[in-house]
Amino acid sequence: MDSNEIRQRFLKFFEKRGHKIIPSASLVPENDPSVLFNTAGMQPLVPYLLGEAHPMGKRIADVQKCVRTGDLEDIGDNRHFSFFEMMGNWSLGDYFKKEAIGWSYEFLTSKEEGLGLDVNRLYFTIFEGDENAPFDEESKKIWISLGIPEHRIYALPADDNWWSPGDNGPCGPCSEMFYDMSGNVGDLSKEEFINAVNKEEVIEIWNDVFMEYEKSGGKVVGKLKQKNVDTGAGLERITAVMQGKKTAYDTDIFSKVVDTFQGYVSSTDSIEYVKSSRVFFDHMRTALFLASDGVIPGNKDQGYVLRRLIRRAVVHLQKLYTKDPHGLIKDILSDYVQKYKDTYPEILKIQEQHFIVIGDEVQKFLNTLHNGLKEFEKGVDPFLLATTYGFPVELTEELAKEKGRAIDREDFNKKMAEHQKLSQTSSAGMFKGGLANHNEKTIKLHTAHHLLLAGLQAVVDKNIKQRGSNITEERLRIDFLCDHKLTDEEKKKVEDWVNDKIAMGLNVVRREMPISEAHKIGAEMEFGAKYADIVSVYFIEDKDGNVISKEFCGGPHVTNTNLLGKFKIQKEEAVARGIRRIKAILMV
Ligand code: SER
Repeated sequence: MDSNEIRQRFLKFFEKRGHKIIPSASLVPENDPSVLFNTAGMQPLVPYLLGEAHPMGKRIADVQKCVRTGDLEDIGDNRHFSFFEMMGNWSLGDYFKKEAIGWSYEFLTSKEEGLGLDVNRLYFTIFEGDENAPFDEESKKIWISLGIPEHRIYALPADDNWWSPGDNGPCGPCSEMFYDMSGNVGDLSKEEFINAVNKEEVIEIWNDVFMEYEKSGGKVVGKLKQKNVDTGAGLERITAVMQGKKTAYDTDIFSKVVDTFQGYVSSTDSIEYVKSSRVFFDHMRTALFLASDGVIPGNKDQGYVLRRLIRRAVVHLQKLYTKDPHGLIKDILSDYVQKYKDTYPEILKIQEQHFIVIGDEVQKFLNTLHNGLKEFEKGVDPFLLATTYGFPVELTEELAKEKGRAIDREDFNKKMAEHQKLSQTSSAGMFKGGLANHNEKTIKLHTAHHLLLAGLQAVVDKNIKQRGSNITEERLRIDFLCDHKLTDEEKKKVEDWVNDKIAMGLNVVRREMPISEAHKIGAEMEFGAKYADIVSVYFIEDKDGNVISKEFCGGPHVTNTNLLGKFKIQKEEAVARGIRRIKAILMV
């Protein structure tokens, strides 16, 4: 069964059981400055887990793109990927444990509708209980009622069986399903089971989270308004299981890129080959998905992670020696586009633009890599390597480690702060997540963002399309496709246009409608993004109903533009060929 069929089967199975299918959200969370990327299927759904009504109802299924970059050094083994797809079914205050567990079991084992896995190779875990919640007797009983022998159900502590996205937000106990990769592990005591998992003979393939609790400041503080189900099954792992492979790198997901790659590298025998080729496959795939969600390599936030991934991929590529890195990269990216274009159309649209974004970054680094590596051999100076040769400090650290050396991170940070560059890189705290932090400042900037896009179209070029966006408490940022640098006059006109609309006191109104209708009325959507069947559209309009802006958007927004204050463009710059960036603020 190939990966496409697994996705299709999953969605169809849950559609038949009353779930509405929604497309993956962007990898970059919308208007949530507290996390860099969606790291789990639940993240874009947090408002609905907390009780807001989802336009598609209470039963949802999806396959969500996720990026996790906390453990890049582990990539190259069998299990870790910086990008992965998470299949999930969701109950937003609807069904609970009985249905969730029953359907997980049915999907895993049914030959007709599901995966047809041998139940004798499956193991199950449940939450053993602590001061926050009791032993999960109910889940245990449900597994037993499905015919699972009690000794294959293991009760484990919160470290293993309590799922939360970070220190804040919805969370709860979970029940996980594991698969015996070797086919002959047999019955296991709890201790043997834990050992087998550590040795990767037995791997986790699905997690059912019963989200009825809430965390705040790292502590469980009580129950949510509603009982939710959040399930997550990693497509890469399940594909490996279905194709009898130890790793997804040996499945249909990567088969084409592996072939292409072998045509370019001089030898596949070197000791570095397995790890370095996998790092390269993984990072290039992630880079492509990030680029197609509007991320551009840079020195901060998401852009810095993308830069790190591309540069790390290039270092691993040069270990394997290839004559034509640009040709190789372009071919590999094209393979990925072919593989994913039907599931994620955003990677097909403006694909040439994505190739340029990644290719330019590769070239920038190739210009300095050779001399940088020579410098590295002479003596490891992470500051010099970062500022002169473009080596992300994490990369230098890793290269030094390979030689059994450590770098002085504190000294580096100090020098960097003095150097006034790259100061806030991938600050570790941001990865752990907190959740959508919609405060007054970000909400105002968000509405100003809609006005700015409309203003750019009204003043500069009606064909301008949004390519990416980001909002912090201090400023908004928009990336858009545009063939020229804005003149001072254009900038001034855009500012005046937006301030004029603010002064007019226009209403901001949310309406839900079928996507076909939203298209018909020409609502603005981010170029390449994919939306659900029922969408919410925010209108900015005057008292007579004349529409100034209409955008597909999840909100939230202020109710009237007169709340915004004075709008000011701070900076307009190029971020890549054909892509401009504006940063703007609101002043009181
Ligand atoms: N949120 C859970 C996870 O990521 C289940 O989807 O594992």
